[in-house]
Amino acid sequence: MSKKIKIGVLGGYRGSSMIKYCKEAENAEVVAICDNAPEVLEAQKRDAEGLNITFYDNFDEFIQHDMDAVVLANFATEHAPFAIKAMKQGKHVFSEVSPMQTMKEAVELLETVEETGMIYAYGENYCYMPAPYEMKKLYAQNKIGEFEYGECEYIHNCEPIWPSITYGIKDHWRNNMYSTYYCTHSLGPIIHATGLRPVSVIGLESANNKRREMGGGKGADLGIEIVTMENGAIVKSIHGGLYENSVWYSMYGSKGRMESAREETGKNDVKTIFVKCDVNEGDYAKLPVEEYRPARPYDDKARAFGHGSSDFYCMWHFVEKIKGNPEADIIDVYEALDMFLPGMFAFRSILGGSVPTEIPNLRKKEEREKWKNDTACTDPKVAGDMLLPTRFGGTPDIPDSVYEAVKQKWDEECASDNPNNYRAMIYKKGEGK
Ligand SMILES: NC(=O)c1ccc[n+]([C@@H]2O[C@H](COP(=O)([O-])OP(=O)(O)OC[C@H]3O[C@@H](n4cnc5c(N)ncnc54)[C@H](O)[C@@H]3O)[C@@H](O)[C@H]2O)c1
Repeated sequence: MSKKIKIGVLGGYRGSSMIKYCKEAENAEVVAICDNAPEVLEAQKRDAEGLNITFYDNFDEFIQHDMDAVVLANFATEHAPFAIKAMKQGKHVFSEVSPMQTMKEAVELLETVEETGMIYAYGENYCYMPAPYEMKKLYAQNKIGEFEYGECEYIHNCEPIWPSITYGIKDHWRNNMYSTYYCTHSLGPIIHATGLRPVSVIGLESANNKRREMGGGKGADLGIEIVTMENGAIVKSIHGGLYENSVWYSMYGSKGRMESAREETGKNDVKTIFVKCDVNEGDYAKLPVEEYRPARPYDDKARAFGHGSSDFYCMWHFVEKIKGNPEADIIDVYEALDMFLPGMFAFRSILGGSVPTEIPNLRKKEEREKWKNDTACTDPKVAGDMLLPTRFGGTPDIPDSVYEAVKQKWDEECASDNPNNYRAMIYKKGEGK
């Protein structure tokens, strides 16, 4: 059997998915796990019986471990500094969402990838869901012609699960996140399918933010980006928390349209694709709609993985890239920026009254100069004197009692035996509550 790629995982909640991948895949093994929350590390230790895994609570020690690559599943705002350290230590990097939180980090991350030559893969798993991945394949085959307009939705009402993803911590990244920060689950698949660079954006956010505020979230419930692409196409991207969930992608081209199923159709949304297009532009041939569930070679294995099997495929491509497989399809650092910067600049647009805002092109080295000291973000630890409010009109003042109530709910969830709450189960296993 060919050599397995040795992987270390930072962050033991979401990181559990990548640990599962390494346990079940044939091309990788997990050799080290790092988490500085004792209960999370303890839970991972219990799950690792019989496996040769070393555990760390300190990243600087973990990164010295003999391994080929690291998965960064730590806080969503802190990936870039850890990615930079890892690549400088000669490790390939798979980074969870989001790739960075400031323009300064964006420049440093790009330059580290270029200087070290290490593989950097952005873990935007939604690109690898069945329908969006099929859209990429069909677009490359010119099935719908030139891309003209797209819509993408990642609507996830997190109100019921807020205690088990923020634990009552006032400054948890999810509580400080602005509305358009987490835009890559919606926009990512359109960028990955078309390969087009976004050039400007108009941002919008909700004014009624009770759902988020009730759990202590300081950003707006909902963010929208209206993005202009380099070929003049327009994309409407929406994400955040409305009452009903939706993960949905639609692309219009010069000779047709393709889209994933809506939740209510009962057709397994991202698992089913609809294609309505002509052979030639201008035929108007009224060809029948094609509707099918795209299949891929590792579906038997992938089916047991989360997010419509995308959790399997994004890791598979990363590991195969390291192994030199020419079929490996990762999201490199430039594409990661194409997915993320529209959200960052949409927020600047929002703060300026939803004005159209240019998205910098950091592929051009001369553009980097302007941004290399820009620390603007909503994280007080990083922003310095460039701290941004968490939403238009200022950061809301949420009383401590809200966080205390959330913490109490989280404690109750940990004390219960609800096997569907995997985070509470991890916590409980670790702490022995
Ligand atoms: N792609 C997806 O579908 C998806 C789904 C869920 C979460 N995520 C991403 O996964 C990441 C983690 O989110 P989460 O939901 O697991 O919750 P989280 O951010 O609350 O947990 C992060 C974990 O990392 C550990 N950690 C943080 N900094 C550390 C450090 N310096 N040293 C050691 N350990 C450290 C924490 O103790 C914690 O256990 C985020 O980036 C999030 O965006 C992605």
